[in-house]
Amino acid sequence: MMEKINTGAPGLDDMLGGGLVRGRPYLLCGGPGVGKTILAIQFLREGLLNAEKVLYISLEETADQLKNDMSEFGWDISDIDVVDTAQEITEGKMFLRTDEVGSHPEFTLSSLIEVINSKLDKQNIKRIVIDSLTSVMSLYESKVDMRRNVMSLMNFLSTTDCTTLIIDEVGGLSRLDSVMEEFLASGVIKIHTVEKKGEMLHSISIEKMRGSDFDKHIRPMKITSNGVVVFPEETLFE
Ligand SMILES: Nc1ncnc2c1ncn2[C@@H]1O[C@H](COP(=O)(O)OP(=O)(O)OP(=O)(O)O)[C@@H](O)[C@H]1O
Ligand SMILES: [Mg+2]
Repeated sequence: MMEKINTGAPGLDDMLGGGLVRGRPYLLCGGPGVGKTILAIQFLREGLLNAEKVLYISLEETADQLKNDMSEFGWDISDIDVVDTAQEITEGKMFLRTDEVGSHPEFTLSSLIEVINSKLDKQNIKRIVIDSLTSVMSLYESKVDMRRNVMSLMNFLSTTDCTTLIIDEVGGLSRLDSVMEEFLASGVIKIHTVEKKGEMLHSISIEKMRGSDFDKHIRPMKITSNGVVVFPEETLFE
């Protein structure tokens, strides 16, 4: 029996037949503002509750912005190890910011993997979030390079003992290719926006989950003051 871990969103665990298989990489896909970052932080907070070490690679927002956003929910994220990026003014290059002493590498896929590796060497990290894969993809101008590098990132993540949630923005202009990463991931969770009587509502579905059965229905989802809540018993259109 494969070990399942909770996502931090109870209704989603029901849809997943108990949670995610430990040690594998998963994609969390959705358009802008649908709650991807909130859900990803819930996933890491669930790890903290179990005394796990967790890592957030924040390539979209600075650690300070993330901290402020999450304080809206009353969530203290100081126990989450955050790696973010900063732009150097003169040349406009992006750098990875990490608490590693003397470390300030230019943001490339190999420097990102090095930073993650050195953290894994020092600490027993169990959960990782990468926010977002789109940021990694935007490092590459050619589709061939992008595919090869995304593949090597996913392969690297599969070799770690960590359960990884990789945020993938959909509908972005920067997308050169679609779905390739969905084949590489062990599972794919998608957040959708649906219009109902003039109101924009959210829903969530599981597109793929290797090694376990899962709910094939699309279910209503809400962002509340407690974070993302999924309603696994409800149908979208009634
Ligand atoms: N207390 C709250 N109650 C309800 N909704 C909230 C609350 N706080 C924030 N939101 C909603 O959460 C959304 C932002 O969530 P989040 O940052 O997780 O989205 P995202 O999918 O990561 O977006 P992006 O693609 O821009 O990074 C906003 O659309 C906002 O309306
Ligand atoms: Mg986000």
